[in-house]
Amino acid sequence: MIVTIDGPAGAGKSTIARRVADRLGMEYLDTGAMYRAVTWAALQRGIDPADESALVQLISHLRYDVDQDRVRVDGIDVTDEIRDPAVARAVSQVAAHPAVREHLVRWQREFARGRSIVTEGRDQGTVVFPDADVKIFLTASPEERARRRVAQWKEQGIQADYEEVLKEQQRRDALDSSRPVGALKRAEDAIEVDTDGRTVAEVVESIVELVRGGSDR
Ligand code: DC
Repeated sequence: MIVTIDGPAGAGKSTIARRVADRLGMEYLDTGAMYRAVTWAALQRGIDPADESALVQLISHLRYDVDQDRVRVDGIDVTDEIRDPAVARAVSQVAAHPAVREHLVRWQREFARGRSIVTEGRDQGTVVFPDADVKIFLTASPEERARRRVAQWKEQGIQADYEEVLKEQQRRDALDSSRPVGALKRAEDAIEVDTDGRTVAEVVESIVELVRGGSDR
């Protein structure tokens, strides 16, 4: 079974997808972490995020693994590094290249082979798994999403200014929504779930119910 959860930055996709997967005994795939890992590796090597062919060259030699929520690139644990603001600033540019997306979409489909997964990202229900069993489009207001990001960074010991986070998020949402390939957009058959003013537990419960209902159909 495949459940897709797409939506903008800060809508709560990671927390919610992880918990839904736990509740349903499924595996969890964070596709944003893949784009972030490639971006981290590019920045490390001084590759320009605008240079599509250098990025493709990099990806074709990169080993990416996830296990127990740890992300590794060529065997190096980069779980924390990929959440750095520097990576967040460059990732949309990296993710806009069609050839980069082609490679990462392949990784995502390979991961799903023979597994039951809850996968989250921007294009999971539209491009990567158009035949998914249940598709969710998770939203929240821009202000709520920025507040959550600031709180998340604070937990990691990173001080961030709310207004700046809001501006950066708007810039990233605009880039993610306007790219020609794999744009952030609700699949026609996705169910929109608004998380504003709702607890994580409530949202998880409603998605679990949708999946259970959906899988009975
Ligand atoms: O969900 P996130 O913030 O970790 O995602 C990081 C970036 O990766 C985001 O700006 C857009 C990109 N992304 C994408 O283009 N396609 C996906 N399926 C997932 C993420």
